[in-house]
Amino acid sequence: MTTIAIVYHSGFGHTARVAEHVAQGAGSVPGVAAKLFKADDLTSPEQGPWAELSSADAIIFGAPTYMGSASATMKQFMDASSKVWFTQGWKDKIAGGFTNSGSWSGDKLATLTQFAILAAQHGMIWASAGMMPGNNSSKASPEDVNRVGSYIGLMTQANVDEGPDTAPPASDRRTAELYGKRIAERLCDNAPLGRPSATSRLLTAFRWEPGLSGHFQLPARSLHDSRRIDDAILRFHHAFIAFVSPRTPRIAITRVIL
Ligand SMILES: Cc1cc2nc3c(=O)[nH]c(=O)nc-3n(C[C@H](O)[C@H](O)[C@H](O)COP(=O)(O)O)c2cc1C
Repeated sequence: MTTIAIVYHSGFGHTARVAEHVAQGAGSVPGVAAKLFKADDLTSPEQGPWAELSSADAIIFGAPTYMGSASATMKQFMDASSKVWFTQGWKDKIAGGFTNSGSWSGDKLATLTQFAILAAQHGMIWASAGMMPGNNSSKASPEDVNRVGSYIGLMTQANVDEGPDTAPPASDRRTAELYGKRIAERLCDNAPLGRPSATSRLLTAFRWEPGLSGHFQLPARSLHDSRRIDDAILRFHHAFIAFVSPRTPRIAITRVIL
């Protein structure tokens, strides 16, 4: 199982709602489990579920923007992570980040920049939003995903006179789901980039009669379903015969689980 840890702080519930939607999007990818962690429980390096963070394949950081930066509780967590930094325990994990604030800008970029730098100091691999900006033309609308127009990570906006039941609105919640899903899917496709997990290590080796051999790696997503594994092998077999060896269909395929 590929795991994604989402560490967040939320003073009034808005960012917590965003965190839930990021988790929902990540968890919608087969074979991926997303788990929420409160920064409040991780403000000291000596206590809290640090081991669970270290065993996750990705960590996504989330906080409201308070006074133009990540909220103080989140910063306590960031400082406490310095103990992990000493050993580079999160190196090569995928990292992502999100922030919510009251204003459309509200200087949210500063918060996401803090998270990207945190990730860089830990040697992690940063995941951008990966979405074109919405709500930026006469034909666009606030119903668009990425209506805030962020590239570096996920930004959402919650009206300051609304509670977390309605703010941030549906388009931002959908954007949060897409961001979680993007990270989960990339983790599955490119699992060797992250910490190796059992699910990402199935290679399919092949031998070809004239003496060639090689291997291809199945996307981790297919590894949880033996029918999908067989389908993928069959597709590879057909492609090999069609494009590489049309007249020599002597190819033996062996599954290897590393
Ligand atoms: C101490 C404090 C500072 C804030 N600073 C900002 C700010 O710099 N930019 C902004 O747009 N909103 C700011 N806000 C508004 C919050 O970002 C907004 O209400 C957000 O939805 C709160 O998220 P939360 O419910 O997860 O705590 C601030 C709110 C508080 C309480």
